[in-house]
Amino acid sequence: MKKGLFITFEGADGCGKTTQLNLIAEYLKAKGFDILLTREPGGKGLGEKIREILLNYDGVVSDRCESFLFLADRAQNIDTIINPAVEQGKIVLCDRHTDSTVAYQGRGRGLDINRINYLNNIATNGRTPDLTLVFDVDIETSNKRVGAEKDRMESSGDEFFNRVRTGYLELAKSEPDRIKVIDATKSVEDVHKQVVKIVETKISNL
Ligand code: TYD
Repeated sequence: MKKGLFITFEGADGCGKTTQLNLIAEYLKAKGFDILLTREPGGKGLGEKIREILLNYDGVVSDRCESFLFLADRAQNIDTIINPAVEQGKIVLCDRHTDSTVAYQGRGRGLDINRINYLNNIATNGRTPDLTLVFDVDIETSNKRVGAEKDRMESSGDEFFNRVRTGYLELAKSEPDRIKVIDATKSVEDVHKQVVKIVETKISNL
């Protein structure tokens, strides 16, 4: 495969996307594809430092400051990790990306979505994912999976979770070609099968 592919994994907290990202990475590697894994916030290097602030800083973080930190991390991830790998023909699997900012800072925190889209576009320099998987779970499933120890973002409450979840479902409705919703309440094996089917279809249409 000469042409690279950029796939993002999205969903509210506790949706199980990271487990699924690792499973599909192994599946694709076994088939001989060149895979690169990254995540937002915190690909590596500077990104890890930004992640540390975003998840663990215990002072006041304004909603706009939070957005800019996620966006700064995204610009770094695009410029130093994602773009070079896609240009080398790799399949890049990214744990969260632009849709997280729309769902969390836009729908969750209530910031203007048009402004977030504009800023996302600056952060990505216009690159958009070829495919986005949204792992959809209800609040009960999420709470069970996240457990009692919550980071700063996970401590935002049930209403916040539901706004984020709705945000993702709205995004999927508005961009059905790029964004596929997966029922992530099912078992790890069942969800993996759904992921394989969607990713295989994408690869075969390249
Ligand atoms: P992380 O530990 O990576 O959570 P998860 O395993 O659920 O992906 O933490 C990332 C947190 O940051 C998560 O709560 C979602 C949030 N987030 C935003 O609010 N906006 C963003 O743009 C991104 C990338 C993440």
